[in-house]
Amino acid sequence: MKDIAGLLLDWYALHARKLPWRQKNGSEERPDPYHVWISEIMLQQTRVEAVKGYYQRFLEYLPEVADLAQIPEDELMKLWQGLGYYNRARNLQKAAAVIMEEYHGVFPDEYDQLLKLPGIGEYTAGAIASIAFGKRVPAVDGNVYRIYTRLMGDDSDITKTGVKRRIREDVMEIMPEKETGSFNQAWMDLGATVCLPNGEPLCDCCPLSGICLAKEQGNMKDYPVKPVKKPRKQQERTVLLLEYQGKYLIQKRPPKGLLAGLWEFPAQEGKLSLEQLKVLLEQWSVKGDQIELLGKGEHIFSHVEWHMLGYLVHLDQLPELEMSEEAVWADAAEIEKNYSIPSAYQCYYQKIIDLKRV
Ligand code: ADE
Repeated sequence: MKDIAGLLLDWYALHARKLPWRQKNGSEERPDPYHVWISEIMLQQTRVEAVKGYYQRFLEYLPEVADLAQIPEDELMKLWQGLGYYNRARNLQKAAAVIMEEYHGVFPDEYDQLLKLPGIGEYTAGAIASIAFGKRVPAVDGNVYRIYTRLMGDDSDITKTGVKRRIREDVMEIMPEKETGSFNQAWMDLGATVCLPNGEPLCDCCPLSGICLAKEQGNMKDYPVKPVKKPRKQQERTVLLLEYQGKYLIQKRPPKGLLAGLWEFPAQEGKLSLEQLKVLLEQWSVKGDQIELLGKGEHIFSHVEWHMLGYLVHLDQLPELEMSEEAVWADAAEIEKNYSIPSAYQCYYQKIIDLKRV
C-alpha cells in the first residue's frame, strides 16, 4: 500500500486548484514568499473565491514588502476594506517593517524566524516555510484536523492543545522529504473539495478512502470532535445616517476592540422606533421630520452578532450631540475614497453610494 504522503501527492498533482498565489502549472519554481504570506493571511478568515480579487488588487497596489511597510495606515485599511479582521492588515504592516529593518527587505526563510513576525502563528509560518522555501514543516489547519481524525477514527477533542500537538507531530512523521509545500497544500485542497466539513464528504473521489477508518465505519460526520461552542452575544443597534448638506457624520471607533480604528456611522444601542428616534433628535436640538427607514441589517462576527436597524435622517441644522474627537462630516465620494467603513455597515453604506449616483 502506498503511504499517505504518496497518495496525497499523486492526487494533488492531478487535482490541485489553480490559485493565483501558486506556482504556474508544471513550473518547478516556488512561489514568492511575499505572495504566499499575503494569500495565507487573507485566507485565514475569508473564503478562497472571495480572496482572489482582494489578493490581485493588494499586490498591484503594494507589489513589494517595502511598499507594504511604507503605506499610510488609513490607505492600508481602505485596501483591506471588505476583508474584515483588520488587525490582520495591521500585523502585516508591522511584520513588513521588521522584514525591512531586521532582514534588509529579504524575506526570512526559517520557520522559527517567520514565527517571530507579528501575526504569524505556527500554521502560517509552516505554510510560508514549506510552500515558498521547501522546508520540511507542517501547516496544520482545520482541514488537516478533520481529514486526519476521520482517517484515523480519532475521537479526541481537537480544541485541546495536547491533541493538536500530537496530530501535528503525526503529520510531521508522515511528511515527505521533498515537495513539502505540495504535501501541505494537498490537505488544504482535499479538505476544501472532497473531505468536506459540512454535508456529505465525497469519499468516492478521495485518494485516502481505501485506508480511512471513518469511511469504513460510515461515521465521517462524527469527526472532528470538538465541544459545542458558546452561542454568540446578540446585540441590537440602531444605525443613523445623519445627512447635512450632502455630508454624512462618521466617527472613528476606539483604537482597541471590535473594528478598532475604523470609521462608522453613529449608532445607538437597541432598535429605536421612529418615535424614540424623534425624541433622541429633539435631545440633539434638531427636528427629524425627514426620516427614512432603511430597514434591517445583520452582521455576524466571530463572537458577536449585530442586529441592526437603520435610519437616514436629513437634517437642516447641525445637531448638538457629543461627538468623539475623531468625527467628520464627509460626502459620499470622500467616504469612498478616504475612510474605511467596515463591511458590517455595507447595507447602509451602499445607500449613500446609491444616493450619490442619482
Ligand atoms: N487555505 C489557506 N491557505 C491555502 C492555500 N495555500 N491553498 C489553498 N487553500 C488555502
